[in-house]
Amino acid sequence: YLSMPFPLKYMSLIVPLLPLIINFLYVKPQNNLPPGPTAVPIFGNWLQVGNDLNHQLLATMSQTYGPIFLLKLGSKNLAVVSNPELANQVLHTQGVEFGSRPRNVVFDIFTGNGQDMVFTIYGDHWQKMRRIMTLPFFTNKVVHQYSDMWENEMDLVVNDLKKNEKVKYEGIVIRKRLQLMLYNIMYRMMFDAKFESQNDPLFIEATKFNSERSRLAQSFDYNYGDFIPLLRPFLRGYLNKCKDLQTRRLAFFNNYFVEKRRKIMDENGEKHKISCAIDHIIDAEMKGEINEQNVLYIVENINVAAIETTLWSMEWAIAELVNHPIVQQKIRDEISTVLKGRSVTESNLHELPYLLATVNETLRLHTPIPLLVPHMNLEEAKLGGYTIPKETKVVVNAWWLANNPAWWKNPNEFRPERFLEEDSSTEAAVAGGKVDFRYLPFGMGRRSCPGIILALPILGLVIAKLVSNFEMQGPPGVEKVDTSERGGQFSLHIAKHSTVVFKPIAA
Ligand code: HEM
Repeated sequence: YLSMPFPLKYMSLIVPLLPLIINFLYVKPQNNLPPGPTAVPIFGNWLQVGNDLNHQLLATMSQTYGPIFLLKLGSKNLAVVSNPELANQVLHTQGVEFGSRPRNVVFDIFTGNGQDMVFTIYGDHWQKMRRIMTLPFFTNKVVHQYSDMWENEMDLVVNDLKKNEKVKYEGIVIRKRLQLMLYNIMYRMMFDAKFESQNDPLFIEATKFNSERSRLAQSFDYNYGDFIPLLRPFLRGYLNKCKDLQTRRLAFFNNYFVEKRRKIMDENGEKHKISCAIDHIIDAEMKGEINEQNVLYIVENINVAAIETTLWSMEWAIAELVNHPIVQQKIRDEISTVLKGRSVTESNLHELPYLLATVNETLRLHTPIPLLVPHMNLEEAKLGGYTIPKETKVVVNAWWLANNPAWWKNPNEFRPERFLEEDSSTEAAVAGGKVDFRYLPFGMGRRSCPGIILALPILGLVIAKLVSNFEMQGPPGVEKVDTSERGGQFSLHIAKHSTVVFKPIAA
């Protein structure tokens, strides 16, 4: 090869690729596709629409192209759904047809080619993994078993805030402390293990591994190789970085957490006691239902799905409460009127409708996963009278459903009262409940978030504890904290983590 003349070298590279190139240049006319901007060969609409296809941009495009439109991103199709009727179709009526998740070269690495649950296609493997995860993580029994522990972790945060004089006058960025709290809540449920402090080397390592995984998976830097298969060889360096991170990250989960549980279970032999979620999962492995890799991918999925989502929601709630002191006061009044001196616990949250409305309003205005986790149809399907080619990535713009002025009164306003007045019959979709397809912060149907059963009470309790113990304000000279947003592809978080003053309320 090295001794070949220069042009021949290129020919020898190009000839094997000719069928692919011809296939690309020849844009096959397809009938009855959803509307969308005109696509050019090879790039499709990519150069027109750019990389950052966030919820705001897609909402604007839906006003031009309608409630379902199609974008071609190189060789890939993206269908965007923006009204409640079509959301119902994708998530519920045709939930099986649209129940898979799109794959790409990077996600293949982070999911071990679909050995996980969150990003795997709809089918037997997904069903089995979801079933195995339900008992240890997503039942009322689990909530009752762990809610005292959640409260205990929250009380530690309140105590830390009370001990710190600076917090009363200058304020602090509370994100890091809440992050430690959420890691401890999830790791105690998973492994019966917790981190000592924000400086615990294992905590630092865990957060680094998870944020690097999110950065690499959500980056636009690999779009060219994802959209244009011919360019995939140039992604080799990027993919190697992903592989290296994933190997070290899974080894970290395994060596420091999973192996410890295996040892404890082994020591107890046949009659091993199941004390935490991963014991259930290891038990399923021992029974031959799943393999060792699946166990690690369940740990990986919980790390990805449970912690940052709930943390972003808390940051949004706190920022809005700082900017709306009257909402803080109303929550306090409700707690004292209804509970008459009893403290708020998981079991009496349902007696506090204004508090729950505040949680709902936070998730409406600042939908943490604004486009849900993308769906995909394995086979060609019909939607809204159009043909959706097989393996199209289908996103539901949940943020726009919940913020479209055609369906909500003054949607830009943070007003929990709406969930007690004009939208009083609306709540996040819980299995068996009545569904309002304008409001889907946790999705709906087969692939909806099973973590809703944990996330809603955790959010309610944290807000109740903070508001009962403190008056939350902006730092000196700042009346309103900045609530501009960042993210969009998979997540919607606050752009600047707020500095908040926590003024203790006399008991
Ligand atoms: C999936 C939202 C917390 C576990 C999802 C989806 C959304 C979502 C929108 C995708 C739904 C769809 O594709 O249609 C949220 C929000 C949270 C939160 C807003 C916090 C406020 C949690 C927690 C856990 C969790 C605490 C676990 C402890 C999962 C899992 C899936 C999922 C496993 C994948 C389900 C599947 O593909 O079958 N979540 N989530 N989430 N979430 Fe959550």
